[in-house]
Amino acid sequence: MKLLAPSILAADFLHLEKDVRLINDHADIIHLDVMDGTLVPNISFGFSVIDAVAKIAVKPMDAHLMIINPQKYFERCAKAGCSMLSFHLEAARKARRSPAKLLDQVRSLGMKAGLAINPDIPVEDVFPYLGHADYILVMSVFAGFGGQKFIEETYSRVKAVKAEIARRGLDCLVQIDGGADLSNAAALYGAGVDIIVAGSAVFKSPDPVKAVKAIKGA
Ligand code: DX5
Ligand code: ZN
Repeated sequence: MKLLAPSILAADFLHLEKDVRLINDHADIIHLDVMDGTLVPNISFGFSVIDAVAKIAVKPMDAHLMIINPQKYFERCAKAGCSMLSFHLEAARKARRSPAKLLDQVRSLGMKAGLAINPDIPVEDVFPYLGHADYILVMSVFAGFGGQKFIEETYSRVKAVKAEIARRGLDCLVQIDGGADLSNAAALYGAGVDIIVAGSAVFKSPDPVKAVKAIKGA
């Protein structure tokens, strides 16, 4: 699958409606980066923004929870209309929660369940949970900020997850997030990435529609 999920973290918050409609019209998924300043060193936005986006969202909303105790907000995300939700393995560990149970909980609320890992977490650490996840989010930068440089090791990490998914005949997608743009999109899709998340490459571009089309066509 070759899907593009623009991240509104890089959008123009004074004209958010315009950027959400752009995703509705030209991209596949609306990626929502929720940061708490504790799991990651930055604060982004919460439900006031998500609820506003939901009012005009046509494409599925994908909540990427970069927060401790993510389970506290699963239900609220479902209520807001998110149809995909990922949380970090690191957060589950901190909360001493079983990642498998948390993924099951996300699914039981009717959302696709994603498990995210930062670049310093061995990729094999997600293997035990592949049967419980609808997608694995292999971070291609350290979660926390948009506009960072893509980490090249992401390719081998994606390939390792894809190989394990194929070996076990599972139905689980792979998403990457951070530093993706037109220069690496083709290679990422080629490596087996199903969903590219891109913030700056879309919304900081002089022509976001053109950028979306170019990345999707890569
Ligand atoms: C980083 C976020 C990303 C970020 C991607 O913590 O999860 O979704 O917005 O931004 P770019 O594409 O600018 O690297
Ligand atoms: Zn994200």
